[in-house]
Amino acid sequence: MNLTLYVWRQEDRNDKGRLVQYEARDISRDVSFLEMLDIVNEGLVKKGDDPISFDSDCREGICGMCGQVVNGVAHGPRKKTTVCQLHMRHFKDGDTLYIEPFRARAFPVIKDLIVDRTAMEKIIESGGYISVHTGGVPDGNAVLIAKRDADAAMDAAECIGCGACIAACPNGSAMLFTAAKVSHLAMLPQGRIEAGSRVCVMTEEMLKQGFGNCSNHYECEAVCPKGIKVRFIAKLYREFIKAKGNL
Ligand code: FES
Repeated sequence: MNLTLYVWRQEDRNDKGRLVQYEARDISRDVSFLEMLDIVNEGLVKKGDDPISFDSDCREGICGMCGQVVNGVAHGPRKKTTVCQLHMRHFKDGDTLYIEPFRARAFPVIKDLIVDRTAMEKIIESGGYISVHTGGVPDGNAVLIAKRDADAAMDAAECIGCGACIAACPNGSAMLFTAAKVSHLAMLPQGRIEAGSRVCVMTEEMLKQGFGNCSNHYECEAVCPKGIKVRFIAKLYREFIKAKGNL
């Protein structure tokens, strides 16, 4: 298949940036979106041009490194799919694609499609640790956890921290991301010990890093490649109110 690409090119965070047109020729329907960009890059390198910079690592939808806006949608048109797991068979021959970086105030563009996601890492870092006794491996059933709670915690723990929720939110809010991180520990007995302090410091860090607040657009849930639900934001609020009430 042949495609016309308009790719965001930006030299560094001070450059204004612009969309540049490329032709992607003879692309197999079986390659992934990132492999299609690899093929385009091979052509650019052969011509002595600067290849398009973009992030990726696992290319299996688990690490959260990849992230691009394809035709205005974070991670592209497929529901619950990271851009590394998006395949060209989901596009049509002759399509025109606009490929841009995740855009949010807290995500400065480093180069082309790569953004600096340090602000998200600061939120994680502020969340700290869980208290456990060191020593031998505890028995698997020593702490009983209801299946319903374990499943809900796992739903929240699916967050891969890609930042699509932030890029899709008109407020550049990190509420869904922070809520997922707060919730998956708050729903397990091992995470309850620091649950109160954790929700306070993570929320504080989120605001300090320049992320906006949630105003119920639900765009975050719509683009989340792991299908994290906005109900976790309600959980974040409940945990926050509980923690503040106990201070
Ligand atoms: S490269 Fe790891 S999730 Fe896409």
